[in-house]
Amino acid sequence: MINNIKDVLINNLINSTVNKAFDSSVKIIKTSKEDNKFNHLNKDASYLLYIHIPFCDNLCPFCTFHKYKYDHKKSIKYFKNLRKEIRVLKSYNTKIDSIYIGGGSPLINEVEIIKTIKLLKELFDVDDISCETDPNHIELETVKKLKGLVKRLSIGVQSFDNEILKKLSRYDRFGNDKELIRKIKNITRILPITNVDLIFNLPNQTEASLRKDLEIAKNLEVEQITTYPLMSSTLNSKFINRFQANQNKEKFYYLICDILKDYHMNNMWSFSKECVEILNDEYVSNHNEYIGLGSGGFSYLEGNLFVNSYDLDNYEKLLNKRKDTIIAKSTFNKKEVIQYYFLCTLFSGSFNIKKYYETFNIDLEKYLKKELFLIKKLDFVYEKEDVLYLTKKGQYVLTVIMANFYSKMDKVRAIFKSGQIV
Ligand SMILES: C[S@@+](CC[C@H](N)C(=O)[O-])C[C@H]1O[C@@H](n2cnc3c(N)ncnc32)[C@H](O)[C@@H]1O
Ligand code: SF4
Repeated sequence: MINNIKDVLINNLINSTVNKAFDSSVKIIKTSKEDNKFNHLNKDASYLLYIHIPFCDNLCPFCTFHKYKYDHKKSIKYFKNLRKEIRVLKSYNTKIDSIYIGGGSPLINEVEIIKTIKLLKELFDVDDISCETDPNHIELETVKKLKGLVKRLSIGVQSFDNEILKKLSRYDRFGNDKELIRKIKNITRILPITNVDLIFNLPNQTEASLRKDLEIAKNLEVEQITTYPLMSSTLNSKFINRFQANQNKEKFYYLICDILKDYHMNNMWSFSKECVEILNDEYVSNHNEYIGLGSGGFSYLEGNLFVNSYDLDNYEKLLNKRKDTIIAKSTFNKKEVIQYYFLCTLFSGSFNIKKYYETFNIDLEKYLKKELFLIKKLDFVYEKEDVLYLTKKGQYVLTVIMANFYSKMDKVRAIFKSGQIV
């Protein structure tokens, strides 16, 4: 009982700290003609490139990512514009070391995405290319065509439980448990890494159902399994609130860690088989800065968060008129930049204070004194030879903080979805 009360208090404290920090630091304003994300690139740096494909065959009610219902003609025009934006990036002689193609459903127009990936490889000579997909675009022939182009294919499954799939409106659209298993089995081991996305803490999800999901994913022998906690925000709360909230988040998280204990933890919700080279799932987690191209793409450069136009016509217009598609930004101060870097790095399991000082000449204690005191006092981390490591409890807490952070990002997305800034 006392432990429960302590946990509730800790959870409330974390939530209010993250919420306050987010609200006070993320102030989205319209960009001016002088703003240009490419002017914030450093010639000596190598970046992660994020590319957004905002199309889906069906719009799932729980998902708050930026997407439109697929329209073939619109997609052809979009990919053409996207390749134009990729060439603009190249004109700045930017070095790219990895690429994450997310959506939406990036494989929705096979011809166009392959043409785009080929261009990316030609211009940037990158091997680390990760691509998301829904389960409807993973035919054997398609995946074979991605050989040599895509290193990691991430398939959104969410759950293999038919009752849950029905609730998520995915059963009729993407197939039942048997169909999902058959589709994935058919394409494993073609690309270096196949990842399966699952969600935990779903409405009515039981321990037995989650256990079964994880066992199925393990038996599929995919190289990577990602387990997101269900994230809710103002953008999907109408759907999520129709169901009774699942109170088992913490218990489920520890269950996942236990079932996947033989896997390597890339970050708090991504697990890889030890044998494969690690490609990190969360594009923010091991890169401090990143460039986002495509409609709705986010970039984080020199302490600025830039947002590309959500509206496809405006995206095209801006690209042709000023070669940059940003419409809004938020600028962070030094402490906020340090906080964000600390959060993202610790999310992978540890933070090397000494290395951080040597690389950036920043004394973490000076900027995050209160935060460090608190997380040590609450036993979320322990320190060994200038490195902070997450404890078991800390791993769960970081999962909750990161999920809160993403949910808060929906507040930003809501501004563009509602058309307040186009
Ligand atoms: C942008 S989606 C693309 C996946 C692909 N379009 C699909 O539907 O299979 C990437 C992943 O985000 C996760 N996701 C989406 N909405 C979520 C939510 N509300 N809470 C937790 N995870 C979510 C899902 O696991 C999904 O596979
Ligand atoms: S979960 Fe995937 S298919 Fe469903 S709306 Fe989101 S991006 Fe589209």
